Amino acid sequence: MSKRTDNNNFAGKIGAILATAGSAVGLGNVWRFPTETGANGGAAFLLIYIGFMLLLATPIMIAELTIGRHGQRDVLYAFRKMNGSKGNWAFMGYLPVVAGILVLSYYAVVAGWTLEYAFRAGVNDFAGKTQEEFSNDFSQFISDPLRPLTWIFLILAMTFGIVALGIQKGIESGAKIMMPALFIFLAILVVCSLTLPDASIGLTFLLKPDFSKVTQHTILSAMGQSFFTLSVGICCLCTYACYFRKDVDLFKDGLNVAVIDTVVAVMSGLIIFPAVYSVPGLSPDAGPSLVFITLPNVFQRVFAGMPVLAYIFSLLFYLLLVMAALTSSISMLEMSSSYFHKEKNMSRAKSALIMTAICMTLAIACSFSFGIWKDYTVFHLGFFDLFDFIIAKIFMPIGGLLICIYLGWSVKGDVVYNEVTNNRTITQPLYPLFMFIIRYFAPICILMIFISELGLIDF
Ligand code: PHE
Repeated sequence: MSKRTDNNNFAGKIGAILATAGSAVGLGNVWRFPTETGANGGAAFLLIYIGFMLLLATPIMIAELTIGRHGQRDVLYAFRKMNGSKGNWAFMGYLPVVAGILVLSYYAVVAGWTLEYAFRAGVNDFAGKTQEEFSNDFSQFISDPLRPLTWIFLILAMTFGIVALGIQKGIESGAKIMMPALFIFLAILVVCSLTLPDASIGLTFLLKPDFSKVTQHTILSAMGQSFFTLSVGICCLCTYACYFRKDVDLFKDGLNVAVIDTVVAVMSGLIIFPAVYSVPGLSPDAGPSLVFITLPNVFQRVFAGMPVLAYIFSLLFYLLLVMAALTSSISMLEMSSSYFHKEKNMSRAKSALIMTAICMTLAIACSFSFGIWKDYTVFHLGFFDLFDFIIAKIFMPIGGLLICIYLGWSVKGDVVYNEVTNNRTITQPLYPLFMFIIRYFAPICILMIFISELGLIDF
């Protein structure tokens, strides 16, 4: 056996599932999903998105888990080991380092906003404000050079603290506390939201599909969302799977995480759309500001006569966002720092600290791109949008494609089969379907998204 101490692996199956689900469930579910659903016509988007989750994102997630769990150390080692060092796949080991830094640098900015809004909710700053005031407040805040940085620093400090504590004491314990809390908060908010006046209009928007609204753009957005929300393609889950025990059922775990992630996204929709429709004049396609401008306004209008409820509802919602962001940011920091820790023998705390410092520096640039650096652009994109573009539209699809090619074509079928059946001790009836998707269906689909996203062809 290797010299790993206990704190270098997830202790149990539940911890492994919760930590993986923690990475998947994040701002992508509570912030990006309602935004995308609102902008793409509601229920029809939801259905297509669920289709991609099942046929594309979940199988690739299971592929990542398989590679990582086989490796049992870090991503670089895992890619070398599983195909017997055939070809030069070592570059995949650097993908999570670079991607982790990039994604955390801009994710921490929005995570910081959630912390500011939880704070504002806590000090009752929303009381009595109008939609216009909310809108001004938000644009003033995000373009401020200093204030957002304080919150970004705090989010990164918390993320660092948890990662530095190690796999069991930090990541697993964090997920075990935050994930159930998140579910409880969500459930309370769903119940509240569904009892609002005109909640049924919001429900219809989310649940009754109108396929006339589906365009090529809807399909591409749904695919992109399924990748982002499951953290798939940049070897984040591959990193976590290195710490999985050998008796974890990878198919079951992967499917569970996909189900948890989808349930959280739908629950967020069930909170947000009935709330938006319960105030006349508001629309569900307000874009990214839905969660920071429209919602605080909704809480004030709906509970106009009951300030205590407005206060509790707002505070719960933003605390929920903070927790969702944290369980994901932890996985981003872990994926980027594990290489130096495992391959270069640096201590966990030191490598996490170096990565945090790099992310903080880049996050400052991302935050400034909403204010004083608005005019600095690369390919017409500010730093924040540039990082998002590189991650969601380049790294995730290309990484996903490479993972499929690696597992489907470079690794021997026997090795894959033994890994997913825990050395033939459990059965995996879905294995043939999984392999078909990984070898043929997913690579073709991803190539299509990628090419069309870059605008090279128009489907
Ligand atoms: N899946 C996370 C979310 O939904 C985002 C994420 C992307 C996390 C990539 C890790 C890696 O918010």
